[in-house]
Amino acid sequence: MRFKKQISLLSAAVAMCWGSVLAAETGAQPWMNAQLAAGERADLAVREMTLDEKLKLVYGYLGADMESKKTKRPEESHKQSAGFIYGVPRLGIPHLRETDAGLGVASQAGPDARHGTALPSGLNTAATWDLKTAYEGGAMIGAEARAYGFNVLLAGGVNLMREPRNGRNFEYAGEDPLLAGKIVGAQIKGIQSNRVVSTLKHFALNDQETNRTTLNVKIDDQSARMSDLLALQIAKEDGNPGSVMCSYNRVNGVYGCESSYLLTEVLKKDWGFKGWVMSDWGAVHSTIPAANAGLDQQSGMPFDLADYFGPPLKEAVLNGWVPQARLDDMVRRILYAMFEHGVVDQPVKPAAESIDFKANAAVSIKDAQEGMVLLKNSGAVLPLNQSVQRVAVIGGYADRGVMAGGGSSLVYPQGGNAAPELMPKTWPGPVMIYPSSPLKAIQARLPKAVVAYSDGKDPAAAARLARESDVVLVFATQWTGEGFDVPNLSLPGKQDELIAAVAAANAKTVVVLETGGPVTMPWLPKVASVLEAWYPGSSGGEAIAGVLFGEVNPSGHLPATFPASEAQLPRPALDGYPEVADKRFDVHYHEGAAVGYKWFDLKGLKPLFPFGHGLSYTDFAMSDLSAGVKDGILHASFTVKNVGRVAGKEVAQVYVAPVSARWEAPKRLVGFQKVEAAPGASVKAAVTVDPRLLAMYDSASKTWKVAKGDYKVILAADAAEAAGSKAVSKVVHLEAAVYDVNGKPISSKPMNGQKH
Ligand code: BGC
Repeated sequence: MRFKKQISLLSAAVAMCWGSVLAAETGAQPWMNAQLAAGERADLAVREMTLDEKLKLVYGYLGADMESKKTKRPEESHKQSAGFIYGVPRLGIPHLRETDAGLGVASQAGPDARHGTALPSGLNTAATWDLKTAYEGGAMIGAEARAYGFNVLLAGGVNLMREPRNGRNFEYAGEDPLLAGKIVGAQIKGIQSNRVVSTLKHFALNDQETNRTTLNVKIDDQSARMSDLLALQIAKEDGNPGSVMCSYNRVNGVYGCESSYLLTEVLKKDWGFKGWVMSDWGAVHSTIPAANAGLDQQSGMPFDLADYFGPPLKEAVLNGWVPQARLDDMVRRILYAMFEHGVVDQPVKPAAESIDFKANAAVSIKDAQEGMVLLKNSGAVLPLNQSVQRVAVIGGYADRGVMAGGGSSLVYPQGGNAAPELMPKTWPGPVMIYPSSPLKAIQARLPKAVVAYSDGKDPAAAARLARESDVVLVFATQWTGEGFDVPNLSLPGKQDELIAAVAAANAKTVVVLETGGPVTMPWLPKVASVLEAWYPGSSGGEAIAGVLFGEVNPSGHLPATFPASEAQLPRPALDGYPEVADKRFDVHYHEGAAVGYKWFDLKGLKPLFPFGHGLSYTDFAMSDLSAGVKDGILHASFTVKNVGRVAGKEVAQVYVAPVSARWEAPKRLVGFQKVEAAPGASVKAAVTVDPRLLAMYDSASKTWKVAKGDYKVILAADAAEAAGSKAVSKVVHLEAAVYDVNGKPISSKPMNGQKH
């Protein structure tokens, strides 16, 4: 401890000396003085810039050649990268080099695709319910981005799962604004710890891919602020991202990237966001409306139909149609984020640096194992016993590797695609199987057993193998990706049939799911166990085997409800599906803020698996709930006891249900804690509740209002248990209270020393 303190004193002293050296040396360029605040530095630099330099900074290119449009990437950009923006070298402002995305350093497809470490899917990370794991994953992918010479990572996707068929759910963090916002906020913080800007996205309400560029979401302000926007707001507060990416879709008639409501009113004014808004690639539709609405940078030309922030913006500024002050604000915001997040002071190196892929794989494995959800476990099959003699491994390319999601977030692994023959091979493909074989990882753990593989294409043959085996492990995959949604929640192809056939042949069947999101399971009663392994990342085979054998006790919990059928959803049929190009239509979010489990509660629906559900190889008991209100803030504390035989982790979830007040739904998640306990041990834990989660948002006054009354505080292991009579609960009384738009108390008393 003391040693650490000495080091930090020393580094503070070095920083001070360095600061004064810098101050002396930066006389001619005062904005390079790292001692000044980022805002001041941005102001100083903007003053020095010519109109053309300013215009350059608000105009982004794709960092790859685009054959269909016959465009070439800027020479200075990194090959096959998502974006490039010219800096101002004369003023010491570096170029912005952007790469996707939230699961690691992705690559535009092609021969020069760079290799990265893929984290498991965002849903997996959300399923960890563990902010430290989310932070560490972010820190790892941010470090890889920096090592490859990128200073912007287009990571921080937190679109709420309103639509379980959304092809991009795997990039996001589930259906609950608190959980999703906290997880993504922690990830952004981790990324930015590398002095790399992270990009909160997609702003906002881009919750399905079908016609994502033309559809129009209809939602009222109150519902939006209490659902999708709340997730973004929490992630913004916790993560402090340097940039935000506006989305493709329209909201109440206006495109996300030209919505002054979303960009200027909500994000910049209400939430006080100081960084810059970049467009999604191809999401700009105008010059003057977009710039005046609050868009600060056009991204990824030539994706847009026109050069909106190129020459047309110059013309607009020269004519005063876009005020000079607006252009200065756009530039200032970009520079602010660059100074604030170290992009200028700690520039990335021109050539790629070496990466410790082994160490990074360990981070990915830990995240995967912390987020895999044991959905069902009966029949004493799992954890697998080392003494098992004959094991059948069936389907899901398990001999070769594990599934990844498609689209811009796809990370190309070392070793290449283990199933390069899969279609589609081009956008939104390639369908990628990471070369981390569960079969090999299982065989390595059972050197004396016979572990046989069947690809599952012939269900009868697979069933024969199952019959001759002691234990059967069936792997099922669902490929999802950007730019398309899945038609329904069934596993694609004949996998349901395969699982049913195998389970009929051998009751000791374990199903391992590698899916983008929720799926239905018609065979569920017939199988012994189900492990939801999501997309488990580039070392996924190893991660899965570790959990199957109990080297790691599963502790993931669902970040989204698994419906029993599509009929239970607010929109049983997905609007616009199957997609007709350029079709314009409304998607009515009639469920308002009642997303996911809130909808299921409201309608009294019983899902296949509830939000928050997750089993372990041990058992836990939760007790001693105490709940109290201090200075208007609700606190709850409780005890979690491991009453089983092996060490494990439990996710204690605290929900609140108003007794008399009316919310959008009967209850909300208001806090959670993941606790680790040895067998027999008890752990005390506590949560403090954000008052916004106890309030209704009032659009007219832009405040969060807590209604006076009694509220039931519930401690539970999932949302269904919380609704039942067996859950531990306490009733507290809350006085009426009002919080500002950011959930801060509005003081009714005058400040000290101020007169009335
Ligand atoms: C996606 C963004 C991504 C961008 C750049 C878009 O298609 O929606 O999430 O960051 O492309 O590749």
